[in-house]
Amino acid sequence: MAVIGCGRIGNLHAQAIASSPRATLAALCDCDADRLARAAERYAAARYASVEELFSGERLDAVAIATPDHMHVHAVQAALAAGCHVFCEKPLADNLAEARQLVRAAAERGVQLAVDYNRRFGFGYRTAHRLLDEGTIGQLESCLLRVTDAVPPPAVARNRHVIFTTLLTHHFDLMRFFGGEIRSVYAVAGDGSPDSITRNVIVSLGFVSNALGTIAAGYRQNQSRTSEWMELSGSAGSLAIEDVTRRVTLVRLDADRREILEPDHFAAGNAFYDSLIDHLHAFIDHVAEGRESPVTGRDAVASLALAAAAIESLESGHAIEVPSA
Ligand SMILES: NC(=O)c1ccc[n+]([C@@H]2O[C@H](COP(=O)([O-])OP(=O)(O)OC[C@H]3O[C@@H](n4cnc5c(N)ncnc54)[C@H](O)[C@@H]3O)[C@@H](O)[C@H]2O)c1
Repeated sequence: MAVIGCGRIGNLHAQAIASSPRATLAALCDCDADRLARAAERYAAARYASVEELFSGERLDAVAIATPDHMHVHAVQAALAAGCHVFCEKPLADNLAEARQLVRAAAERGVQLAVDYNRRFGFGYRTAHRLLDEGTIGQLESCLLRVTDAVPPPAVARNRHVIFTTLLTHHFDLMRFFGGEIRSVYAVAGDGSPDSITRNVIVSLGFVSNALGTIAAGYRQNQSRTSEWMELSGSAGSLAIEDVTRRVTLVRLDADRREILEPDHFAAGNAFYDSLIDHLHAFIDHVAEGRESPVTGRDAVASLALAAAAIESLESGHAIEVPSA
């Protein structure tokens, strides 16, 4: 395997591949010579300054892509053309049409195209998903999610509604992860200035199942890390998930008590970025076993379709019906 883009997240990809018993980190690629050299010092892997040089120099089975958001499409196209399985950071593409085209290209090539919705692998969401599946809170009726994060730097904030495509792409995916397909989206924003990026939004979601979802999201100047809380409310109780990995609180209807589930603090697996490493390990296992990756390009398209619907709703002032996938 190779890693394309050796920044903060690419180094985690390299760490995941190097620590998998089923993969070998053969090469690293970055257009920044210093970053490439620093990563290559850590891992005994070949170095390439561009994706073109990487694919002409190496015969690879799979790549992990962690270039900036707007560079994903170029790297994914090159990887698919070389017949590689792809694990790409979110969002898969800047727009829905490009994402759909990549999913078609991967299917034509017969390779896996995975997108890193790593929150699904965090202790809190993973545990809540298992409890929901086991029927612990009965039929899911509503999902409430609150998230705030730092205002993104200008290199990331390339369009006014970046909050939907870069931050909330994770949370649209989480809504689908728990509640299934979504049929309607209504979004409002609290920001008045047309010059600034959208900072505060509330998105109301209607699920095909008739359950309801609400996402309240905001960017905060100088916030040091993402702060996130989700509650799943069902016919027989509720589950609250704190900060992806921290804690799950189960409240049942029939008793005035709550059960707290926390990760084992002495074991690996409780830090946010371990969820990314766990996801990449799962991708490698699925590819090695010829199984479809746990999070697919279709999931990426579905999440981007919800982001596009939210932007359309914001701009039109109407609820938007989402076409079925
Ligand atoms: N899954 C998550 O929770 C999560 C968290 C943070 C960031 N991300 C995503 O990960 C990606 C990378 O983010 P980051 O914070 O590591 O960014 P970064 O800026 O630290 O790293 C990006 C790297 O890509 C390199 N690069 C740029 N263009 C390139 C090209 N054409 N070919 C090769 N290398 C190129 C840059 O030199 C840089 O080293 C982004 O898409 C971001 O949205 C995901």
